[in-house]
Amino acid sequence: MPLKAVCYTYGMKDSWHDNLFASHWDATSNAGNPTRQQQLEILTKIVKATYQPGSTLLDLGIGSGQVEKLLFTGVPGLSVVGVDSSKEMLRLAKERLVDNLRHTVLINHDLTEVSTLKLDATNISVILSVQALHELTHSEKQSLFKYVYSKLIGGGYYLIVDRFTINASLEQALTPVWDYLEEHAGQKSGQSFSEYVKKVQDKQDFTATPQQHMEWLEQTGFLTECVYINMDRGIIVARKAQ
Ligand SMILES: C[S@@+](CC[C@H](N)C(=O)[O-])C[C@H]1O[C@@H](n2cnc3c(N)ncnc32)[C@H](O)[C@@H]1O
Repeated sequence: MPLKAVCYTYGMKDSWHDNLFASHWDATSNAGNPTRQQQLEILTKIVKATYQPGSTLLDLGIGSGQVEKLLFTGVPGLSVVGVDSSKEMLRLAKERLVDNLRHTVLINHDLTEVSTLKLDATNISVILSVQALHELTHSEKQSLFKYVYSKLIGGGYYLIVDRFTINASLEQALTPVWDYLEEHAGQKSGQSFSEYVKKVQDKQDFTATPQQHMEWLEQTGFLTECVYINMDRGIIVARKAQ
């Protein structure tokens, strides 16, 4: 697999439908995201504490199933419905989760049209979006939050892991933090902080601050907390009241 021949193209959105791009992302998902492993380990602990046995976990933007690979190991009795618009990422998820396919339903659907997403599962205690929301416009995110609220059981949790807007004009102070994280990263990006910022800015995603996410979630009816933040990466927990 010529992974090195594939690179992110500046000025373009990620090509999730392209099989080489999907495989490359899957093989390098920690590069440029030096705390991803830590984020996912914390997420697994939160899911373990909030998932209700016998219920369904819905992952909106499941990708290649890396998160579920961890969850199936860490959360006993898990049952998953995963949604993604990329057939290539779903193909990788099917391969990765081969031992758990009896407990996994994969659905190919575009979250920009979430109102037409039909689910058989009714008892959903946890919903996740991991590094997927920044692909949606702010108004699409708000529609998704309403959908999530309508699908969760009372007391259920929506867990967001994502890249948020960061104030890059503080570069002088942010650079040493980036350098420290890169130095200790298992998978290094080889990028300076300014190169990383240029790369993500050129991707034309729709990042927002944690505060904006929490405001939209609270407008939908959720109780929220930002439980982890490290540079531009963070975890938001949202709970639907009983
Ligand atoms: C960075 S990957 C993250 C995958 C997975 N959540 C993880 O963390 O391992 C982003 C995923 O979001 C999916 N995605 C992007 N836009 C989407 C959309 N409009 N509807 C559904 N999925 C989307 C992509 O296909 C991709 O699989």
